[in-house]
Amino acid sequence: MSSILDSFRLDGQVAIVTGSGRGIGAGTAVAYADAGADVVISARTVAQLEETAEKVRARGRRALVVPCDVLDPEQRANLVDRALDEFGRLDILVNNAGGWPPKPTLETSEDEFDACFRFNVTTAYAMTRLAVPRIAQTAGSGAIVNISSVAGRFNARGFAAYGTAKSALSFLTRSLAQDFAPTVRVNGIAVGSILTQALSNFMSDELEEQMLAKTPMGRLGRVEDIAACALYLASPAASYVTGEIYGVNGGLTQIQVEMPPVNL
Ligand SMILES: NC(=O)c1ccc[n+]([C@@H]2O[C@H](COP(=O)([O-])OP(=O)(O)OC[C@H]3O[C@@H](n4cnc5c(N)ncnc54)[C@H](OP(=O)(O)O)[C@@H]3O)[C@@H](O)[C@H]2O)c1
Repeated sequence: MSSILDSFRLDGQVAIVTGSGRGIGAGTAVAYADAGADVVISARTVAQLEETAEKVRARGRRALVVPCDVLDPEQRANLVDRALDEFGRLDILVNNAGGWPPKPTLETSEDEFDACFRFNVTTAYAMTRLAVPRIAQTAGSGAIVNISSVAGRFNARGFAAYGTAKSALSFLTRSLAQDFAPTVRVNGIAVGSILTQALSNFMSDELEEQMLAKTPMGRLGRVEDIAACALYLASPAASYVTGEIYGVNGGLTQIQVEMPPVNL
């Protein structure tokens, strides 16, 4: 007898997860392995990639480590080529590498603004253009999952660069879903505050208290909270879902980080 839980499985599928040396990307790679996928592990720090790969292998799945800076076009192309050479197919791409700290607008140069956009938006666009034809040719159909942010939904001081970039990533997600339906589904996640290195870089007890007070669910997020959604969106269980940005953020209706007012 078949169970609906079978539709959450990824047996025989191959996924590329960018930024999967640690944090949300690593958690997603391990979740995909739990669900039966082979995973291409990719970021810049090889030692961390090997750690994630070990977790994938411990689940009985194959892991391929491909160091890649998503900002470099040649490395992006190599990432997709290596995945195809090793596994012969591609089903799923998770555009997870990204991020940017909050910073006052008048202290953020045009070059920094451009760099933030390139890191969070252009790289996902470029990776998707590389992956989609290969998914269509080898697997016949597949899924893209873009890791966006609540910073792209709500406005707050200090988030002009990051918020604009993640908002654009969410818009891009909906646009690409139209371009590639019905062959490749494209969805995103509006991530809230998740306990990863990116967050701990500027976390303090005082900030945590402030953030919890603004979070209806009363806690910060875990990597697994995001990985569970990334699994659903990539799996056959979501085969009728495309062009959506799912919120996984503890019920946030505002940004939790308060930056000081600008003194003009
Ligand atoms: N944590 C949160 O609260 C939160 C909230 C909203 C959205 N997000 C989004 O979630 C995603 C992951 O964030 P995270 O919190 O998991 O961050 P993290 O713990 O700092 O992990 C980031 C991963 O991306 C890799 N990476 C960084 N720069 C890269 C580059 N140029 N090319 C390839 N890989 C790169 C890092 O490895 P290397 O440095 O070794 O390359 C690492 O594996 C980001 O898109 C971020 O905007 C996070």
